[in-house]
Amino acid sequence: MPLDADVFAEPAGRNAPQQVHITLGDQTGTAMTVSWVTMEEAGNSTVLYGLAIDKLDMAAEATVTTYTYYNYTSGFIHHCTLTNLQYGVKYKYAMGFGFTVRTFWFTTPPRPGPDVGFRLGLIGDIGQTFDSNATLTHYEATGGDAVLFMGDLSYADKYPLHDNNRWDTRGRFSERSVAYQPWIWVAGNHEIDYAPELGETKPFKPFTHRYPTPHLASASPEPYWYSVKLASAHIIVLSSYSAFGKYTPQWKWLEAELGRVNRSETPWLIMASHSPWYISNNFHYMEGESMRAQLEKMAVDARVDLVFAGHVHAYERSFRVSNIRYNITDGLCTPVRDRRAPVYVTIGDGGNIEGLADEMAWTQPPYSAFREDSFGHAVLDIKNRTHAYYAWYRNDDGAKVAADAVWFTNRFHMPNHDDSTPTKSHPSIASSSSSSMPAYNLPRLIRISN
Ligand SMILES: [Fe+2]
Repeated sequence: MPLDADVFAEPAGRNAPQQVHITLGDQTGTAMTVSWVTMEEAGNSTVLYGLAIDKLDMAAEATVTTYTYYNYTSGFIHHCTLTNLQYGVKYKYAMGFGFTVRTFWFTTPPRPGPDVGFRLGLIGDIGQTFDSNATLTHYEATGGDAVLFMGDLSYADKYPLHDNNRWDTRGRFSERSVAYQPWIWVAGNHEIDYAPELGETKPFKPFTHRYPTPHLASASPEPYWYSVKLASAHIIVLSSYSAFGKYTPQWKWLEAELGRVNRSETPWLIMASHSPWYISNNFHYMEGESMRAQLEKMAVDARVDLVFAGHVHAYERSFRVSNIRYNITDGLCTPVRDRRAPVYVTIGDGGNIEGLADEMAWTQPPYSAFREDSFGHAVLDIKNRTHAYYAWYRNDDGAKVAADAVWFTNRFHMPNHDDSTPTKSHPSIASSSSSSMPAYNLPRLIRISN
């Protein structure tokens, strides 16, 4: 969208807080981190919060930072963690005292528990185009409680000299959602902003200055991989752009983290990374393969329910498949249907500046259940410990029609239930639900995309 688009407008008032966004400040939401930017001066860093606008009886102080990127100097970036919050309670909060006060609200997540329902929004690769705006509008209509964002936020690196003003415009654009509910951040390649030709050699510099994550709460040494627990879901965020080989910090953390998962408390185990492990699109094909080869067995052994990714600007959902038999001697390297395995959802179709990934060059492979190159978003509606209703909404249909919908059953509480077979869209596979059948013996599917 052009710089004068109304969704990029700065809020009225001198030095008004802008680009307000929140994320979890601890692992479960009894703390919330509020971030905002002031452009003229740092101003007051206090956030007042409480149960009503006339009862903001708690206070917290923000840290303030700035950064430079080539010829750009940021505004004053504030990060403030509100603590001592109760589960499932609506709080009001305000900041900007001394100049222009702005007020917002959020509802904390419910206390984690096995049958606690939660609506998790799923958006990736959103950018700041007209399609991005449509995606956000549709997500507001479908109404999740929080968003798991699969990476690639601003695409500032696609503008001349990595124009960091585009980090500011994107922050203003999405404030209408992310100031009111926490978004959980996954780092994408467009967050790296590594540009030695501009003298910018510190990866993730704008992203880390602007978007804190609660990584310390899950004993992660880096902001790019961490976990949160929302209601009945334990969500593990991984970094496609940090080392993940055996013995690396991320690998060691993941191994320990999987040991900390308590499926009795949080039955739903979800992983997210930017680059997908299973995709049948020419764009970014196989980029996630090294991570899959390294980490897939850990995910299958842990009975991960769902793995979400972005990066590929299209939508794709897999059946429950695994490809963990391979070794260099036996040559077994074919994905097979596997009820122990996660479903893989690629949802990099938020509406970015690069356009759709429309090169589904092959006949749809057997591991792919549904694919389409359309912009959209999804919502995972967790009902209880056994069932979650998942739906993908393409922008072309608005927010009323789910273009792809599945009832997922939990891998811990219903491990043998085959929830990834035949939808109405794919009657051709109705008879092929064997969990041990080699994938290439399954009937070929008809390409769904245009
Ligand atoms: Fe990407």
